[in-house]
Amino acid sequence: MNRNDVWFVTGASKGLGLNIVKEALKAGYRVAATSRTVESLTKEISETEDRFYPLSMDLSSEEDIKRAIESVVEHFGQIDCVVNNAGYAQYGYIEEVTDQEARADFEVNVFGLLSVIRNALPYLRGQGHGHIINISSKGGFHAGAGTGVYCASKYAVEGISEALYFEMQPFGVHVTAVKPGGFRTNFYGSLKMTKNLLEPYAEMHARTEEANKSYIGHQPGNPQKAAEVLLQVYESENPPLHLFLGSDGYKSAIKKYNEVKRDMDEWKALAISTDYQDE
Ligand SMILES: NC(=O)c1ccc[n+]([C@@H]2O[C@H](COP(=O)([O-])OP(=O)(O)OC[C@H]3O[C@@H](n4cnc5c(N)ncnc54)[C@H](OP(=O)(O)O)[C@@H]3O)[C@@H](O)[C@H]2O)c1
Repeated sequence: MNRNDVWFVTGASKGLGLNIVKEALKAGYRVAATSRTVESLTKEISETEDRFYPLSMDLSSEEDIKRAIESVVEHFGQIDCVVNNAGYAQYGYIEEVTDQEARADFEVNVFGLLSVIRNALPYLRGQGHGHIINISSKGGFHAGAGTGVYCASKYAVEGISEALYFEMQPFGVHVTAVKPGGFRTNFYGSLKMTKNLLEPYAEMHARTEEANKSYIGHQPGNPQKAAEVLLQVYESENPPLHLFLGSDGYKSAIKKYNEVKRDMDEWKALAISTDYQDE
């Protein structure tokens, strides 16, 4: 790691991504930032100097992602830290979310991220160092009612990150799966409600809507502090595979962890009873 390193951040026009870009620039790094529309980036970051490289990129297009990453390497000569940040939540109960809605969420949160990794790794692996930071969610560790499809996409991000962590060990490339709790961003503005609302869930939806009204704008997480932490993690010698951000996510992860342990202990005898009894 040195201050001349190049960061590549997706979904950077607002929220967590924008804060990461700002903090990385403040720290002196060179930053390539992608958004669906380049204007939304240049509107946010006036930096005209050659340390900032804004790009439009469509996460659903492998060619577009390849082109964007190649142009970053052409522009800056290298790429060191990839932050897969772009993502949104599809809301709706499992029975409600349509096939099209579920696939669209996975297209951005999972397949877009996979494609960025596939196209960036030849550079990171080739130079023998780098860091892939995947923005997952506390929902990638424990799912809640109404967010099953979104959480499933973040569980996929967890699986990809864990495997990649081991795959990249011989090549000196770090991998971190970040699990934010609630942060005050445009997350709820980007959220998509299912178009297939079913009557049996109407009361639950009404309750969630009411709860969201008092929650939005009061999420405990500060996205600027999250960005500062990610810079510290990047600069550390042994960055973690798992990073929870925010006291809410941290607490609920411990609860899930204890629940899994309780079930494992309670059902241990049966769980391990399925082996062959070979001598
Ligand atoms: N805020 C939270 O409470 C929270 C909690 C857990 C996890 N996260 C995760 O953190 C990441 C950043 O989210 P955020 O909180 O900063 O939300 P945000 O303010 O809505 O920003 C999300 C970014 O993702 C991109 N994005 C949103 N919808 C998209 C779509 N349909 N297609 C393609 N790109 C899309 C946008 O990029 P452009 O508009 O620039 O193209 C946007 O800049 C996401 O992966 C989210 O799942 C957030």
